[in-house]
Amino acid sequence: MHIVSFFNHKGGVGKTTLVYNLGMALAQHGKRVVLIDLDPQANLTSAALPKLRLSNAISDRLTVHRCLEPLIDRSGDVDPIDPIQIRNTVWILPGHIALSEFEEIAPTGWTEAVAGNAGGFRTSTAIYRLVTEVSRRVDADIAVMDLGPNVGALNRTAILASTGFVVPLAPDLFSLTALSSVGKSASLWVSEWQAAIGSMERRGLNLPFTLPEGKPSPLGYISQQFSVYRQEPAEAYRQWIKQIPGSYTDGISKAMQASGVKMPPGDPNLGEVRNLSSLVPIAQRSNKAIFELGGVEARGAQHTRARDTYGLFSEIAEKVVQRLDYVSHK
Ligand SMILES: Nc1ncnc2c1ncn2[C@@H]1O[C@H](COP(=O)(O)OP(=O)(O)OP(=O)(O)O)[C@@H](O)[C@H]1O
Ligand SMILES: [Mg+2]
Repeated sequence: MHIVSFFNHKGGVGKTTLVYNLGMALAQHGKRVVLIDLDPQANLTSAALPKLRLSNAISDRLTVHRCLEPLIDRSGDVDPIDPIQIRNTVWILPGHIALSEFEEIAPTGWTEAVAGNAGGFRTSTAIYRLVTEVSRRVDADIAVMDLGPNVGALNRTAILASTGFVVPLAPDLFSLTALSSVGKSASLWVSEWQAAIGSMERRGLNLPFTLPEGKPSPLGYISQQFSVYRQEPAEAYRQWIKQIPGSYTDGISKAMQASGVKMPPGDPNLGEVRNLSSLVPIAQRSNKAIFELGGVEARGAQHTRARDTYGLFSEIAEKVVQRLDYVSHK
């Protein structure tokens, strides 16, 4: 089973839209997929669940927050639930705004883990243990995690739980400068986790659960044009597009390679998503992937454009799976 995160602390670069559409494309490839909403904004959950199912999920407390609550209020350990089925072979573990409470306990847990303290390992492996169990319950092949736009403690536990991560980005100044902080943070987390495992071994701690390896491979980037296209002349963003490969290699590949994670071969450019304008909000409101939109939701040429996105999402999904298979092969 693979766990893949979509991560960039620059906001609004298309993480949630990609997680949903690529998750649905993976299911078309015969994969059993669990979407995990780890962003307290819960945009993925709103896109995946129709209004009534969404309000039932929240009132029945079928969210990731409830699973972590015993750790947050220090009453116990991770309490997994069954994910909600949204297609034949796709499920979601819904997000919740209160998930941000986990940010308050995670830093102490991390310091304790680095010092080799058992309680710290409980918190620092919470996402890994939760996602592994939730995926096991539906026999999933892949868990796809949507992360919020920050390099906080929740994202640290999510990245360390991952087999690999994909970086959605936009060709603009802040998106490209964000790459070096993504690389710095992720590589630092990998080394600190190795230090924590070292402390655990020195202290002879015998933990009653499996630890994540904590070596997430950078699987590549997906660039999009919609955000800058709206604001800047074409020439300006062409300049930024040229800088993407170098910024990704310097900011992410080099940092991650130096931290000892396995690097996938091939061009890190996984694909480019064009400006799909109104199709994106239409698909979100319809709780569908863009390529699933029917002739009623998207008419005429719009419908053809929507169907045509399947080729792109499918191609990116296939590359992501190939790279996950490669990096997890010992
Ligand atoms: N290919 C696209 N074409 C046009 N608009 C898009 C496209 N992809 C995403 N959008 C729109 O851009 C906005 C940001 O997308 P999205 O929510 O997926 O980004 P995000 O990186 O998850 O944001 P956040 O960092 O806030 O979680 C949304 O309003 C979405 O509808
Ligand atoms: Mg998002």
